[in-house]
Amino acid sequence: MEVTDKIVILDFGSQYTKLIARRIREFSVYSEIVPFNTPASTLDRPEIKGIILSGGPQSVFAPNAPHMDPLILDLDKPILGVCYGMQLLCYTMGGEVVTSKDREYGPATLQIVNQSALFEGLSKQQKVWMSHGDRLVRMPQGFELVGESDNAPITAMHHFSRPIIGIQFHPEVSHTEHGAYILSNFVFKICGCHASWKMIDFIDDTVAAIRQKVGRQKVLLGLSGGVDSSVAAVLIHRAIGDQLTCVFVDHGMMRKDEMNEVITTFQSGIGINLIPVDASNEFLGALADVSDPEQKRKIIGRLFVEIFEREAGKLDHPDFLAQGTLYPDVIESAAHAGPAQTIKSHHNVGGLPEKMSMQLLEPLRDLFKDEVRGVGRILGLPENLVNRHPFPGPGLAVRILGALDRESIRILQEADDIFIEMLRSHGLYDQVSQAFVVLMPVRTVGIMGDNRTYDRVCAIRSVSTTDFMTADWSRLPHEFLADVSTRIVNEVDGINRVVYDITSKPPGTIEWE
Ligand code: XMP
Repeated sequence: MEVTDKIVILDFGSQYTKLIARRIREFSVYSEIVPFNTPASTLDRPEIKGIILSGGPQSVFAPNAPHMDPLILDLDKPILGVCYGMQLLCYTMGGEVVTSKDREYGPATLQIVNQSALFEGLSKQQKVWMSHGDRLVRMPQGFELVGESDNAPITAMHHFSRPIIGIQFHPEVSHTEHGAYILSNFVFKICGCHASWKMIDFIDDTVAAIRQKVGRQKVLLGLSGGVDSSVAAVLIHRAIGDQLTCVFVDHGMMRKDEMNEVITTFQSGIGINLIPVDASNEFLGALADVSDPEQKRKIIGRLFVEIFEREAGKLDHPDFLAQGTLYPDVIESAAHAGPAQTIKSHHNVGGLPEKMSMQLLEPLRDLFKDEVRGVGRILGLPENLVNRHPFPGPGLAVRILGALDRESIRILQEADDIFIEMLRSHGLYDQVSQAFVVLMPVRTVGIMGDNRTYDRVCAIRSVSTTDFMTADWSRLPHEFLADVSTRIVNEVDGINRVVYDITSKPPGTIEWE
């Protein structure tokens, strides 16, 4: 791969670390998160133009507090310490940090008191976002105070003669009004990066890398109809054509017409080798009368792996298993040595490569979701696939509460299709992060024309989120909700009442089961 300028972020465990990388990539500069204890020798590379020390939940005084290799300070590269990163710089370079039980959390006004390239082009007062316990009371030698605020007198410091800077606030969160601008000053003015991280280059480089890695061997990919596996499929297909085979297991709980759409897009449209497997009888048979959510998920997971393995066994021993793993999965997986406090369990086809003794091919593992969408667009995938909301592996099974049958699936597919189609036609689909309908196992009395009805209730759910770990329910216009309700009750045989879910996450989850 051609070497492009890079900013490296040492991860001290802040929930915002990924956001820093995203912001920088939005400037078309490549940015990578590495564990906090990465040795200086690894970072001593010419393409690394600057280093950011992320925030973190610990105090620098805590017994197991993550510290960096102090030799990093001798690399002569620009360094920006953010929050914990600033405290660590101060602590490591001989200043004084005091620990405090009271956290400062929320908005603050930064007063810029001296010049620093970091704040070039900004007015003297800035709205910033704080989230810290410890604070600096004395800067290390050689630093000048450049910013203060009411609760943290040393809010920003810049070394007199070296490009080492510390800031107590978080420039990566949107509540810091000019946070992206501040980061861009670091990346371009202080580190001298060129905006050379381009998706077209990524595609060309990745296609070449796949060809080299795979050679004449065969690749198998489990296509789910979602964005990640779809983009991985077209990217790999571009590289190795017919050496790729995709298997699409239809468990019978997909969205309306999904199987047909996948066949039309990938098999007829792009010409990818696709094996569609209609396994709905097997799944629905195994799920008959099962109403416990965890049971349902376990049965589906187990059966999925079994069927996928069975189909793969019919192929001529593929050498690689391709997956649409993304950068956030890589960062969050336990394999990453960073001290992030939450580790998300993966919903992908976990464990398959070991069991099937195949090598893994993960061409998207350096990308964020929005970058994957960008790659998908460049590769010509249809927009309604590229911008699709996430869909859970167990599909509608977790949206039909209690035991499921074909009739419930039909009812939910119809209702969901109406809701999604209306969100799209009202320009709301891209404004929310995930939206769907849930079918409840209760009946209520209603009246249609002159007739009394006794039918099912459905809930519509729509949330906004950036990371799906927390989410807020969408404030959809009342008129729109009214129209959705009218259409569902009029058009879907089996539903006579619609309710709207106004629960955020936490305390709710996004899915209902
Ligand atoms: P929850 O319900 O945990 O969902 O708030 C967070 C996000 O994860 C998706 N989700 C899944 N995705 N397999 C998946 O591939 C699953 O088993 C699964 N369960 C939840 C959910 O749709 C939301 O985007």
